[in-house]
Amino acid sequence: MKIKNFLKDVGGASRVTKARLDAFANASPSLETVDPIGDVAREWHPGRIELVITDIRDACRTAKTIRLERPDGKKLPPFYAGQYIVLDFEIGQSRISRPYSISSAPYEARGEHPFVEITVRRSKGDGFICDYVNSELKVGDHLTGTLACGQFYYEPLRDARNVVALAGGVGITPFASMAKEIAAGKLNVDLTILYGSVSSDDIVLKDELERVCEEAGVKNASGDEGKGSVRIVHVLSGDEPDWKGERGFLSAELIRKYSAEDTTYFICGPQVMYTFLRRELQKLDIPKRRVRFEVFGQAKDITAFPGYPMEVKDKTFRLTVVQGIARQEIPAKATESLVVALERAGIRIETGCRSGECGFCRTKVLSGSCYVCPENDGRREADKDFGYVHACAAYPTSDMTIKIPIS
Ligand code: FES
Repeated sequence: MKIKNFLKDVGGASRVTKARLDAFANASPSLETVDPIGDVAREWHPGRIELVITDIRDACRTAKTIRLERPDGKKLPPFYAGQYIVLDFEIGQSRISRPYSISSAPYEARGEHPFVEITVRRSKGDGFICDYVNSELKVGDHLTGTLACGQFYYEPLRDARNVVALAGGVGITPFASMAKEIAAGKLNVDLTILYGSVSSDDIVLKDELERVCEEAGVKNASGDEGKGSVRIVHVLSGDEPDWKGERGFLSAELIRKYSAEDTTYFICGPQVMYTFLRRELQKLDIPKRRVRFEVFGQAKDITAFPGYPMEVKDKTFRLTVVQGIARQEIPAKATESLVVALERAGIRIETGCRSGECGFCRTKVLSGSCYVCPENDGRREADKDFGYVHACAAYPTSDMTIKIPIS
């Protein structure tokens, strides 16, 4: 019986071996895998993607809108109106990333002719990347970017249907995206944008937004409760005698005038506007859960933040950077974040928001000390305990050694 079973096994094994050899002989020379779930995941979370500039147009006298598409014309990964993309730039020896709010609507990234747009204003002397984007980029240029990041978007489970957007300058861009999505019937929100500008010439995306309001208004007038609405109220702070609209700043009085009983407030604009608006919203007793601030990028003047150690502000420290087995020493100014010091030295570090929120630039401090900007401290408690900082929100206060991932 044992011998019979043994011979049966040998016979079976030789049949399997022949079948395998035949399969090898008939196999395609290329490696073909079918992975539909992986394909969907890669489409929705592609990491960095290549983009090409297909259009550049004026958004006002001081800002430009730049349209980006995939070189192969494929759809772009989905995003929420209000989110931002991070674009990479190679300038001289430096490789620098910057976040930009998307000013086009999510549905436009998934349509027949998919694209995203950003709108960037020329700086007033303190933003060389903004100037580079405005003056150096041209149609046909290729960039890499990530899509999409940020928490600044409407969430129906959390936010009221009435939204008042408080925008300043180029901070209108996330609201332009929301307004277009509403006008297309894709977002069911009643949006009022209070938009502060210095002069009427400075109003970014003025004509475009007026067209969007008209479109959304027509849908609303049809009495369809399933559709949202958009209205824009321009507020000028400069002296313009012929101006017929609202004047001054986005004061508590003005905010009250345009608010419904249950309203969520979204705020995006220059840093100085945030300080002002926090005070105005306090006057109205608006609960914190009803107020959402977009992150505002790196602090313009870190010495103005509470607790900054003024005694080090003019110093430059030695920053030792460990990446794998490599070590490099670079200078790091006390008033510049670790990210800026690394980029200045041509050392690449992953960044997203540059506001301490996303954690892309998470860095281990091996020795030394730094000041973490309290407004931008988005670290988890465990990260604080184990000596991690977000390098975009950390400023050296002594010589330091840090460890960053190899990228
Ligand atoms: S880049 Fe987002 S936390 Fe530093």
